Amino acid sequence: MKFFVDTADTNEIRDLAETGLLDGVTTNPSLINKSGRNFLEVVKEICEIVPGPVSAEVVAVDHAEMMREAEILRKIADNITVKVPLTLDGLKTCKALTSDGTMVNVTLCFTANQALLAAKAGATFISPFVGRHDDIGFDGMQIISEIRTIYDNYDFGTQILVASIRHPVHVLQSAMIGADVMTAPPAVIRQLFKHPLTDKGLEAFLSDWQKTGQTIA
Ligand code: E4P
Repeated sequence: MKFFVDTADTNEIRDLAETGLLDGVTTNPSLINKSGRNFLEVVKEICEIVPGPVSAEVVAVDHAEMMREAEILRKIADNITVKVPLTLDGLKTCKALTSDGTMVNVTLCFTANQALLAAKAGATFISPFVGRHDDIGFDGMQIISEIRTIYDNYDFGTQILVASIRHPVHVLQSAMIGADVMTAPPAVIRQLFKHPLTDKGLEAFLSDWQKTGQTIA
């Protein structure tokens, strides 16, 4: 499963990229707002840090205007993935862009039927939001299983990009289901490294090593 980080914070992206774990980055208008930076500038910088797909979202709601914005976004770098909402106009835009060789991430997906539409429109990635589903008392991961079954039934090449991840269990479940990609906030990716027994074990090893009086030189 590929790991994308869901942030526009370039310090976080740089630090996590050094682990070799990052296969891509997703942003959205809320994350751009949180960064306090110019959209085009920050996205360009992210594309230079991470060679994999970097999602940059259009903010228009009609097809013609989405295409105009997409033209600007796709010129930023070769690894730009244009992100469009799962609407009729969004899917028209998806079809046009992917037919022209541009990667497209269809976002704000909340049902398996919506994911089916995105695959038929040639989406590179579909982003079902699991956390926002959980927030309203629904099992978000259920949708991921349904999409996996549908895509496998018909050999769709669209990659399932699990989004709106809130905690490590979402990551585990995504991998168990066979999602292609997950995108998580930096804090959740950092949580994946952590286990109290790892910390405790390391503490004991270091303490015993000190007692040997040796150094590695
Ligand atoms: C995905 O591309 C979205 O940016 C993101 O995962 C949304 O997550 P949220 O529900 O935590 O805002």
